[in-house]
Amino acid sequence: MTFTITPHASPVSAQAREKALEDPGFGRVFTDHMVTLRWSAAQGWHDGKVTARAPIAIDPAASVLHYAQEIFEGMKAYRTAKGDIVLFRPDKNANRFARSAERLAMPVIPEALFIQAVEALVKIDKDWVPSGAGSLYLRPFMFASEAFLGVRPAQEYLFCVIACPVGPYFKGGDKPLKLWVSDKYTRAAPGGTGAAKCGGNYAASLIAQAEASEHGCDQVVFLDAAEHRWIEELGGMNLFFVMSDGSIVTPPLTGTILPGITRTSIIDIARDMGMKVTEAPYSMDQWRSDAESGKLSEAFACGTAAVVASIGEIVSSSGSFRVKNASGATVASKLKEQLVGIQKGNIADSRGWVRKI
Ligand code: PLP
Ligand code: COI
Repeated sequence: MTFTITPHASPVSAQAREKALEDPGFGRVFTDHMVTLRWSAAQGWHDGKVTARAPIAIDPAASVLHYAQEIFEGMKAYRTAKGDIVLFRPDKNANRFARSAERLAMPVIPEALFIQAVEALVKIDKDWVPSGAGSLYLRPFMFASEAFLGVRPAQEYLFCVIACPVGPYFKGGDKPLKLWVSDKYTRAAPGGTGAAKCGGNYAASLIAQAEASEHGCDQVVFLDAAEHRWIEELGGMNLFFVMSDGSIVTPPLTGTILPGITRTSIIDIARDMGMKVTEAPYSMDQWRSDAESGKLSEAFACGTAAVVASIGEIVSSSGSFRVKNASGATVASKLKEQLVGIQKGNIADSRGWVRKI
């Protein structure tokens, strides 16, 4: 596939871009361009373009606006100390996007085409990739654009990629997270869309996230839908529990949680560092009693946007408890250092995770 490239006629000035890169926050500042690619039942993938980032016109009857047929990905481009620009495991994002598409009855974009589209945007907007601690967050997404109100998989889709330079996801920086346990709302049920990265999952989680904010918490912990007992994940991150004997537990991929790329990378890194990692169910009661008895030494969350974040306090309608989280060289900080080191090219990439653009 060849993408037709039409550079922005009046991109943001170098001076304004440098200013924006100083403190971009998360998801507010966007680069100059976007990628679009269409799919129709008759033509398959076609009309690939790189153009100035601009509003998209869609028909008011477009299926996405009524039945929420939409999926997305979250990935990052990093500038290494040597000045190269790299992606971290983009094949994993392409693969998860394909699995999300299948679950939402959408067409699958081939892995090579997905990566080509992402790379085309990073190349044209390369000056937007921050150096130092920041990165360029990439947001590939696809929605049903067919104008049709019948309830069936749409026959036309628009795939897009947009990008924004980002700094830390949480305003508090490295401050340990305070979490709210939702006993009223669940994120996903068996047979549902929990393992897919579809907008609907996030729409349904917002009320619980708002409840978390009302309780002064950063994020919401979702429990399983059947028993409201087993820990699943946060609204936008996977969870890990570190025991005082150094072993690590993370909830298993049972189809109701998102198979995080950071999660799987951390499991591999921890095992390579000699740590024992078990993917096993872990309950809310266990979390509290292990934290109170001292059996649990750390808990942390991870994801592309937030990287690795320690958890300090857990609040629920039945009270709160703290996780010890020894300061200094915690397991979380050691794992983060390895992960970020590989992503930024400061630690050798022995597994072929990093792809130079
Ligand atoms: N869980 C949810 C619900 C998420 O939105 C994310 C973010 O993408 C993750 C987990 C972490 O996934 P990843 O490490 O692939 O970013
Ligand atoms: C990510 O980490 O990429 C996410 O998608 C989390 C959130 C911004 C939705």
